Amino acid sequence: MSDTVQSTPSTKLWGGRFSESTQASVEQYTASVHYDWRLYRHDIQGSMAHAKMLARQKMITDQERDEILRGLEAIGSAIEQGSFDFRPELEDIHMNIEKALIDLIGPAGEKLHTARSRNDQVSLDLRLYLREEGGKLIDLATRVQKMFAGLARKYLGAVMPGYTHLQRAQPVLLSHHLLAYVEMFQRDKGRMADCVKRLNVMPLGVAALAGTGLPVDRDFVARELGFPEVSANSMDTSGDRDFAMEFLFCCTVMQIHLSRLAEELVLWSSKEFDFVEISDRYCTGSSIMPQKKNPDIPELIRGKTGRVAGSLVALLMTVKGLPMTYNRDLQEDKEQVFDALDTVKSSLSITAELLENLSFRTENLREATRGGFMTATDLADYLVRKKMPFRQAHGVVGRIVALCQQRDIELVELPIEEYRKFSDLIAADVMECLSVEGSVNSRTSMGGTAGTRVEEALERIEKQLGIA
Ligand code: ARG
Repeated sequence: MSDTVQSTPSTKLWGGRFSESTQASVEQYTASVHYDWRLYRHDIQGSMAHAKMLARQKMITDQERDEILRGLEAIGSAIEQGSFDFRPELEDIHMNIEKALIDLIGPAGEKLHTARSRNDQVSLDLRLYLREEGGKLIDLATRVQKMFAGLARKYLGAVMPGYTHLQRAQPVLLSHHLLAYVEMFQRDKGRMADCVKRLNVMPLGVAALAGTGLPVDRDFVARELGFPEVSANSMDTSGDRDFAMEFLFCCTVMQIHLSRLAEELVLWSSKEFDFVEISDRYCTGSSIMPQKKNPDIPELIRGKTGRVAGSLVALLMTVKGLPMTYNRDLQEDKEQVFDALDTVKSSLSITAELLENLSFRTENLREATRGGFMTATDLADYLVRKKMPFRQAHGVVGRIVALCQQRDIELVELPIEEYRKFSDLIAADVMECLSVEGSVNSRTSMGGTAGTRVEEALERIEKQLGIA
């Protein structure tokens, strides 16, 4: 990229009404090509469709159209090969490409911007870009889901404590816990697909804000670019960035789901939990403490969540007070979108790798289900089945737990005669529901943690993800 140089008014595509050159500091402050160059492929794609439409509508000749198409193709290749000279004094990728086209093919190039404004052009480019990137995010989330499903299959039958308030609550299957994340990412994918549906609307033809008097064919451009719809109100379209906000929201929720998983991996790989072992290749050491093996990857996933959420909030605030229609403030959308995208993509991808490179300590998971009276609810349900009202049962079990706590024993260790002092509804069959397996397997309600239910869920998910 060339250094910012003082340019003459004639350098600018809009230089006609200006008698003085732009201040170098202004060029520097307003330039966006150092980041929006990323849209070059979509800009060229959009311009090609636009040129075809201009020719169809007799605003340019077929020969001019062909010159434009060839020129744009050449520019695309130059950018790809790294030989394109990006000029910050031309502000953005749109004007860089247009100027390069004019320099390359002459007068026909000067006709490309007929019936078009950068306002509808940038909206088009960003929509084309986001619908593509949205699809990539969905694919990456699917990869993560497949890893979860693989682990769920591998560890089928392993029990662990389920938590609320990070206190041991009720025993569950590890696979059930893992499949919970599959559901989260399923919703994330649906949300993203929905967002893409809403942004998949063709804005070109809106021109600056009011539409155009030139005989454009918006439907043709939409068909050419695979948009099912054309935007309805030119003023709305000129100033609209909901689609970018929504996209950032979808990214944020995805990243937050990754962050919750990351937090669990940090906790679970600590000595305090010791539930999971992350392979050496996916951990880092300490520069001073030789014994350390740190879970830096999940920590960074958790840490980077702040910047993704920050991007969403930044764009919300950018748009918040804007009068209709386009305002230059909107240029601030792109860095937020790019940064969030890069972060979520790399986080999804490293998460998939991480999941492939960890193993659960099923003995420790099981051990953690002992103590904590996690089958107390099962005991209460046992009494309910024997027709005791639940509130009474809750009280009875509470007193039994207190006694066991006093004696420092588990619920299963309390003799049946002692149980019967609390209620003669309790019989010897109570012991079954006090065991971890008994508890887990009794939870057969739809979506529950019983082995049969979890296997069903896993089969459904495997089918959905196209595994086996
Ligand atoms: N680079 C600008 C953006 O990203 C393009 C639109 C500029 N339009 C204008 N009238 N200054 O929003």
